[in-house]
Amino acid sequence: MIEQQIKTAIRDIHDFPKPGIVFKDITPILKDHALCHNIVEAFADQLQGVRIDAVAGVESRGFLFGLMLAMRLGVPFIPVRKAGKLPFTVRRKVYELEYGTATIELHTDAFEPGSHILIHDDLLATGGTVSATSELIQEMGGIVAGFSFVVGLGFLNGEQKIRPISERVVVLAN
Ligand code: PRP
Ligand code: ADE
Repeated sequence: MIEQQIKTAIRDIHDFPKPGIVFKDITPILKDHALCHNIVEAFADQLQGVRIDAVAGVESRGFLFGLMLAMRLGVPFIPVRKAGKLPFTVRRKVYELEYGTATIELHTDAFEPGSHILIHDDLLATGGTVSATSELIQEMGGIVAGFSFVVGLGFLNGEQKIRPISERVVVLAN
């Protein structure tokens, strides 16, 4: 099944990018097109019945399956980028990471107010990145339709942090 396929494919890299971090490397998944296809189908299955007007994917690994999923659902893809990368006018948010701080930005015309936005990232750790993303989307008039992740680091309790924002949280492998 999909969870086992993902766990088998992912590679643990110890002490990257800092000592003490076990980094979950998803790049082996990308070499397996059948697994990529199955991941997108698993997301689509688990999100059936949810109104999704657009998928927002977080730079950079959230772009990978975020765009594939948006195409599968037939909706726009919205890039959520790190500071200074988007060329048009932006709104921004600063947030904490498992290993540092970061700033995310969205184009001011990324979506229409009232749009239902699925927030996608490759991995849920502390939940800081997607919480910041959901705050930014809500400040811009969007409605958070739910969250989707390929992998979750259960021991960091990120899911508890984001469930109050939306109960629709899809994590394919924990
Ligand atoms: C990683 C990952 C998520 C985030 C998860 O991104 O892709 O975006 O950290 O952590 P959190 O749940 O504690 O917020 P990273 O900032 O390492 O950037 P990258 O995708 O460009 O590698
Ligand atoms: N993002 C935050 N923590 C991570 C981890 N342990 N592995 C991969 N990406 C991450």
